[in-house]
Amino acid sequence: MAIRLGDEAPDFTAETTEGSVNFHEWLGESWGVLFSHPKDFTPVCTTELGLVASLKGEFEKRNAKVIGLSVDTLDNHEGWASDIKETQGHAPNFPIISDADRKVSDLYDMIHPNANDTLTVRSVFVIGPDKKVKLTLTYPASTGRNFNEILRVIDSLQLTANHKVATPGNWEQGGDVIIVPAVSDEDAKGLFPNGWDEQKPYLRVVAQPGK
Ligand code: BEZ
Repeated sequence: MAIRLGDEAPDFTAETTEGSVNFHEWLGESWGVLFSHPKDFTPVCTTELGLVASLKGEFEKRNAKVIGLSVDTLDNHEGWASDIKETQGHAPNFPIISDADRKVSDLYDMIHPNANDTLTVRSVFVIGPDKKVKLTLTYPASTGRNFNEILRVIDSLQLTANHKVATPGNWEQGGDVIIVPAVSDEDAKGLFPNGWDEQKPYLRVVAQPGK
């Protein structure tokens, strides 16, 4: 069954390039990003894994752990790592699940038979410290993902978890935000004492809290 926003992220134990991982234990109090790759030794996946390795510090700044998955063997994952380092300048520095039996892929509905009946699509799940799914993305095998967008969404999720705001289209860290409609003007005066720009009664724009 498809995983929906707000669902608890299904737990599992799997073999990875960094040993056996129990997913919930491994996540601990962190945010998590679980993402799948169609297959080892494929070109787009090679670029994505090098890219995510280069962004590890950005995920760490956000208290987020990343874990990849491919329906391939550990031997293949390990052999592929040197190609990734050679071509992308960064070897994977995060665990990659060996899901040759598709246990985790099936649990997370990552195989879409009308796209391909053996390989996973490019799925992304962002999971909060409460183990709830906060974001799902599904990309086709032919399109590499934009991992800056995943970081941007984590920034938005972390901001909106702590303040009664939502982030507008194309928002980035430091940009103006929107007071959520559930907050009355009366309550907003206490929460945003420097005021806001009321463009419509339902569209109240305010500086990002804490900036
Ligand atoms: C790739 O990662 O390059 C890829 C994988 C499966 C199908 C097409 C491309």
